[in-house]
Amino acid sequence: MLAVDGVSVAFGGVKALDQVSFEVEEGVVCGVIGPNGAGKTTLFDVVSGLRRPVEGRVRVDGRDVTGLPPVRRARAGVRRTFQRTQVFGRLTVEDNVLAALDWHGGGGGLAADLVGLPARRRLERDRRERVAEVLALCGLDGHREAYAAALPVGGRRLVELARALADRPRLLLLDEPTSGLDAAQTARLAEVVRSLETTVLLVEHDMGFVMDVCDRIVVLDLGRVIAAGPPAEIREDPVVRAAYLG
Ligand SMILES: Nc1ncnc2c1ncn2[C@@H]1O[C@H](COP(=O)(O)OP(=O)(O)OP(=O)(O)O)[C@@H](O)[C@H]1O
Ligand SMILES: [Mg+2]
Repeated sequence: MLAVDGVSVAFGGVKALDQVSFEVEEGVVCGVIGPNGAGKTTLFDVVSGLRRPVEGRVRVDGRDVTGLPPVRRARAGVRRTFQRTQVFGRLTVEDNVLAALDWHGGGGGLAADLVGLPARRRLERDRRERVAEVLALCGLDGHREAYAAALPVGGRRLVELARALADRPRLLLLDEPTSGLDAAQTARLAEVVRSLETTVLLVEHDMGFVMDVCDRIVVLDLGRVIAAGPPAEIREDPVVRAAYLG
């Protein structure tokens, strides 16, 4: 589902990513771990299209997306959340999630609205149903009408997650999803991630969570992949222990 092939990104003299290559099979939950500044968020920026690598390619589901802008990748089924949450603060929780489904809606203005009325009502009902479903999944049904900005950071993270899930992504990128979540929210998130059929790439510092939900782990250090494999193997890897786990 995802192939990152020889990707490098430099900021001045700093090589944030240095020839990074790895693949993620369809349906797999893959963790990306590594010390602060290892290049994890930069990798997400490259995969989601916010940053062009100086070299290397990114393929999603076999298709080379390296040159595609974020919106085209989103339409190919790539969704992400951000290390610093980016919700629409002045929209309600429900509207934040509805916005993720907006591009499926109507178009064509008033005339099309009048002609297509029954179909549009159905579409609108389907969208609201999907939103309700995702809000329930993320434990947000009690906060439907709240303004997103009014929620604590854990709540805003869950709104971002709900928004990313609404349109049934094919490849979901989560950047530090447990940060700001309490223990109950973290446990629910683990359940949600495990229940997804989509391919997931997640950056996370909470090792318990990573070892629990990931099928596979890629370890970055100073912009390089220093190890990749199943959690049990990564936990015992002497190079990883020296660089990160201690
Ligand atoms: N916009 C930028 N301009 C300059 N340097 C940057 C920029 N973004 C990241 N860097 C640098 O690139 C390297 C990788 O940063 P990145 O944010 O990808 O790391 P990270 O693994 O996500 O770290 P953290 O665990 O702290 O989130 C770091 O040395 C960082 O300082
Ligand atoms: Mg980061």
